[in-house]
Amino acid sequence: MIVNIISLLLLALLAALFAWLATRAWRAKRAYVKWPAVILAGLFTLIFAAVTGVAGIGLVKLEARHANPVADVKVAGTPAQIARGNQLAWGCADCHSPTLDLPLIGGAENMIAGGPPLGVLYAPNLTPGGPLQGWTDGEIVRAIREGIAQEGRPLIAMPSQAYRHLSDADVQALVAYLRSQPAVVNSQPARNLNIVAALFMGAGLFPTSAQSPVGSVTAPPAGPTAEYGGYLVAAGGCADCHGVKLDGVPPNSFVPAGPPLKPFAVAFSEAQFFGIFRDGLRPDGSPVAEGMPWRNIGKTMSDDDLRAVQAYLKTLP
Ligand code: HEC
Ligand code: HEC
Repeated sequence: MIVNIISLLLLALLAALFAWLATRAWRAKRAYVKWPAVILAGLFTLIFAAVTGVAGIGLVKLEARHANPVADVKVAGTPAQIARGNQLAWGCADCHSPTLDLPLIGGAENMIAGGPPLGVLYAPNLTPGGPLQGWTDGEIVRAIREGIAQEGRPLIAMPSQAYRHLSDADVQALVAYLRSQPAVVNSQPARNLNIVAALFMGAGLFPTSAQSPVGSVTAPPAGPTAEYGGYLVAAGGCADCHGVKLDGVPPNSFVPAGPPLKPFAVAFSEAQFFGIFRDGLRPDGSPVAEGMPWRNIGKTMSDDDLRAVQAYLKTLP
């Protein structure tokens, strides 16, 4: 935070320096010195002023405190809740576990490495040995569905745009499961997003996970129906990689490019559709590509859930 503010001040200082050079150049006697110098210094002034402004907007977004209300819930933690939460938690393991397995002891990789240098972001330890031991159930519910941390700052890279569709029963089941895990201590590097991240965020290229308040959500009755499949698809985050309308994402985007989903649902028999999520195999026996987290998605879904998803995907326009 301090480093980012100093970086921002340095950027503003550079803008001021070039503005000063531009006024100096303006007073130059010889035209062949004056105009190139004025134009060059003026250009750099504009660039640094723009960068300072955009990075400033990004820093505000990163540090903003969101006032979304925290529900006053106390999750009972019944065996049925823990079992349901355990099933859903497989969907968290792709990020919150080093082995893609349960329990959710926290990721072992910097989630924002590999692209531009944005800083450090590890998916935190969600066992009672980690930060959540000091959070209320309502604060955890808000983090999952609304992408907001305990003190109100926005989370980054949490798929809350999908989880906001989770029903009250399912999100509370998740809390029950998180609390039931063994308390594992896992020292992870702290979140540290730098001025480049602020710049991307200010430019709208790097979103936060923060959502508007969710309120109360009820799922349709569970069963192999298209209606329940629609719920599983919305809360399951298929849209993140397969496009908002599930009609595919172009290959050069930030996320793995998932294909349009309806054609698979229509062309595959039930057994072939199951094969994707149970074995990671297409009907011709070839493996489903890495970018599709079929193993853990499959573990979040019973056979009836998969039937529901296929039925729903068939109804897409
Ligand atoms: C795509 C990766 C990803 C998935 C999937 C994911 N998370 Fe997260 N989650 C993150 C990251 C990264 C953070 C840290 C964000 C930050 O601090 O800005 C986080 C933060 C959290 C936090 C706040 C914890 C803290 O100490 O600040 C909770 C609670 C949480 N996730 C729960 C879940 C649950 C429950 C699931 C599954 C239903 C889940 N997450 C799935 C990436 C993910
Ligand atoms: C993290 C990104 C990601 C998420 C989330 C995701 N998918 Fe995918 N999916 C992909 C990619 C990438 C492919 C292409 C795989 C390939 O070419 O083999 C794919 C392929 C598929 C296929 C076709 C398999 C094949 O190649 O024959 C189906 C069906 C599918 N996804 C369904 C789903 C459903 C349903 C969900 C949500 C419950 C989902 N996916 C969530 C990335 C994702």
